[in-house]
Amino acid sequence: MRRKVTILEFSIKSGSPEKQRSACVVVGVFEPRKLSAAAEIVDHAAKQFLSDILRRGDMEGKPGTSLLLHGVPGVEADRVLLVGLGKEKEFREKEYRAAMATAVRQLNETGGFDGTLYLTELSVKKRDVAWKVRQAALVVQETLYRFDRLKSKKEEVRRPLRKLTFCVTRRNELAIAEAALAEGLAIAAGMGLAKDLGNLPGNICTPSYLADQARQLGKSHGLNVDVLDRGDMEKLGMNTLLSVARGSHEPPKFIVLRHSGGASGSKPVVLVGKGITFDSGGISLKPGQEMDEMKYDMCGAASVLGTLKAVALMKLPLNVIGVIPSTENMPGGAATKPGDVITSMSGQTVEILNTDAEGRLILCDALTYVERFDPECVVDIATLTGACVIALGHVTTGLLANNDGLARELLDAGHDSYDRAWQLPLWDDYQEQLKSNFADMANIGGRPAGTITAACFLSRFADKYHWAHLDIAGTAWRSGKEKGATGRPVPLLSQFLMDRAARVAKPTGKRKRG
Ligand code: BES
Ligand code: MN
Ligand code: ZN
Repeated sequence: MRRKVTILEFSIKSGSPEKQRSACVVVGVFEPRKLSAAAEIVDHAAKQFLSDILRRGDMEGKPGTSLLLHGVPGVEADRVLLVGLGKEKEFREKEYRAAMATAVRQLNETGGFDGTLYLTELSVKKRDVAWKVRQAALVVQETLYRFDRLKSKKEEVRRPLRKLTFCVTRRNELAIAEAALAEGLAIAAGMGLAKDLGNLPGNICTPSYLADQARQLGKSHGLNVDVLDRGDMEKLGMNTLLSVARGSHEPPKFIVLRHSGGASGSKPVVLVGKGITFDSGGISLKPGQEMDEMKYDMCGAASVLGTLKAVALMKLPLNVIGVIPSTENMPGGAATKPGDVITSMSGQTVEILNTDAEGRLILCDALTYVERFDPECVVDIATLTGACVIALGHVTTGLLANNDGLARELLDAGHDSYDRAWQLPLWDDYQEQLKSNFADMANIGGRPAGTITAACFLSRFADKYHWAHLDIAGTAWRSGKEKGATGRPVPLLSQFLMDRAARVAKPTGKRKRG
């Protein structure tokens, strides 16, 4: 599906704010009424024009506020946009991102085609220029994101923004900032793809649609793509996956994408994404309220496609394989019933006590399948449990792993990309909850610790390699008025792979963290 998008151009610059020939120069104001360094320079050139405004009480510097000024004397730009930053002492990652979002929203409403932002010069505790520029690129794309392709009348933007320039304080930061900008834009493009796929409804975004998208991504970004269909899966014995597909008329697909950027023969990092394009619950039917949101049950799959897009754009020197088991979960006449016992691809048998615990059933066969890649490590990403939303809310992704080093890497990547995860224990004590009287295990572990027992189930299929599981049930989309996919955890996964690539490139180099 093609659609017209306004291409935004980005660049990096260093130079004095009053000398910028731009439709709008953006500088920050701290609360209460304190000019940022760049704003001070503008103020000086403008003979206290800004401080006069602050003194008159028109701009307090509160977060979320802004003031657009025309014809500021001594300034080359047509306009100056003051953006409220909140208290300087409290200015952290969240406040930086919010200020950037306010700036972009306001710039998009002005008559100018371009903006030159000095917000990237603000200091954010423990964050360097590269971080600020990367985040700026992400926030811009997030702020301007619209999903209107299914509306017959699109909202017209009168004069859309065409160009943004991020400023850095010193010339010797230019190269770093430019590299960071490229990374930020690659990650943003991956997030955009993940959001689009997530937001598409289940009647459009079917397993076959995901497979087509993967093939297209392969063509446009140089990835090798294979799609297995029902017959192939039957031959492989992927019976738990197929047991979920039985109740649906949509054919299931098993998608494999490969980015071969690393040395040939170097072990791949494998990402496995849950691709339930609609989760009705199956025979264990879900209640009707908010059931529409179960179109988002393929956000794990979308994050794998988005991350592979980012990885390909960044040309990371790493072998990365994306694997997507995909099907609908529907209650058709042939559907799997509670009590049915299924033999998984691994040979282990599973008693299905609840057909709504289907994510683990498609993932377990995928986890067995990926053994053939002799992976360096495997990370699965899934909107797996409502319990995770109860435990961690919509702020942080749940993380469970059978290897502490891998868990640490992912937690660090989440922290660094500001797409955070939090680890839950995967202790053996929890495995007992999966006992079945009739098979090797049940597919549910009761109400207590639902996120952990789901991961315990998966861990039984992931004992041949280092493995981590990301439960994104709370972070993959927002409900309510702002309903929509978030594109998470594409930033976390991209950062994780960037860090790995950097380590492969300089194996003796210093690690950021131990
Ligand atoms: N896709 C859901 C998990 C989910 C629920 C994500 C709500 C986001 C919001 C998953 O397939 C599911 O239905 N899980 C069940 C498991 C239970 C039956 C053990 C759940 O969480 O209720
Ligand atoms: Mn379910
Ligand atoms: Zn589900």
